[in-house]
Amino acid sequence: MHKVIYDTDPGVDDAMALLFLHRHPDIDLLGITTVFGNASVDTTTRNALFLKREWDIPCPVARGASVTFDPTRQERAWPTMVHGENGLGDIEVPATIDLPTDPRPAYQFIIDTVRAHPGEVRLVAVGRMTNLALALKHDPEIAGLVKDVVIMGGNFYVPGNVTPVAEANIHGDPEAADAVLTAPWKVVVVGLDVTSVTTMSRSYLADMARDGGSAVRLLSDLSQSYIDFYGHIVDDGMMVHDSCASVYVVAPELFDTIEGAVRVVCGGIADGQTIVKPDGRHFPPNEWDNLPSQTVCTGIRSQAVIDLIRDAILGQAKR
Ligand code: BDR
Ligand code: CA
Repeated sequence: MHKVIYDTDPGVDDAMALLFLHRHPDIDLLGITTVFGNASVDTTTRNALFLKREWDIPCPVARGASVTFDPTRQERAWPTMVHGENGLGDIEVPATIDLPTDPRPAYQFIIDTVRAHPGEVRLVAVGRMTNLALALKHDPEIAGLVKDVVIMGGNFYVPGNVTPVAEANIHGDPEAADAVLTAPWKVVVVGLDVTSVTTMSRSYLADMARDGGSAVRLLSDLSQSYIDFYGHIVDDGMMVHDSCASVYVVAPELFDTIEGAVRVVCGGIADGQTIVKPDGRHFPPNEWDNLPSQTVCTGIRSQAVIDLIRDAILGQAKR
């Protein structure tokens, strides 16, 4: 069993990934930690509690960061054109959910849970990297105690999605992402190189909803305006960014990867750009020297990934 903490900013594609993680038979979801990003942390936490309730997810939800790792950074508007005003495609969601959050802030929940299961926990982070950077700051030893960190974020050989060079999760907190990517733990970076070519069509999701009962109908309903948003680049479908990172946990063989040190540009016109120095390439002394080698996804078997998402969500994934 893969013990997973899911760090997320739900978020439409975050919601799909959550249902995947909850229902995959090889995943033991230990906790959900929330972060600001697709909406405020109040909203993403409320959404996590809503999805927990609707989908009977037993694990705790711990509320996370509401501002960037460097709190002097200027905040930008929420991406309501992508995820709706309420972060879940503007379906009806109650203003409050009558469920408690874990008493600890997300970073402390991460530290305690990693320490309770040394060498076993896989952090799947699909929002800004703020909670992970705070966990490292408060307890640097956890870097040696997690199994690995799988993130959705970044772009290497393709353009960004919020600027020509930057992807949203990294651009939203570049200092946090640089801290996470340069720490002495194994990070697997599932970025736009692979997620932007992995799309689920509206009709594929509709078939899932037909076969999957009310839980999958909810997923389909909250995804409709997100699919509309993607109309300018996807043919009646949506990029399933966060599910790609979640699939990596159980099916790394569906991805091609390279190894190398990764840095994040902090400031200037390339703010939030991720840059890898592939292992074996030699340069004069530079800012990538002597940093841990991370795993960067460069290729993906998209249809197999989409089918695995469907199978897990419909309770048909093989162990
Ligand atoms: C990422 O940004 C958010 O909009 C999505 O949830 C995903 O995690 C894609 O760039
Ligand atoms: Ca997300």
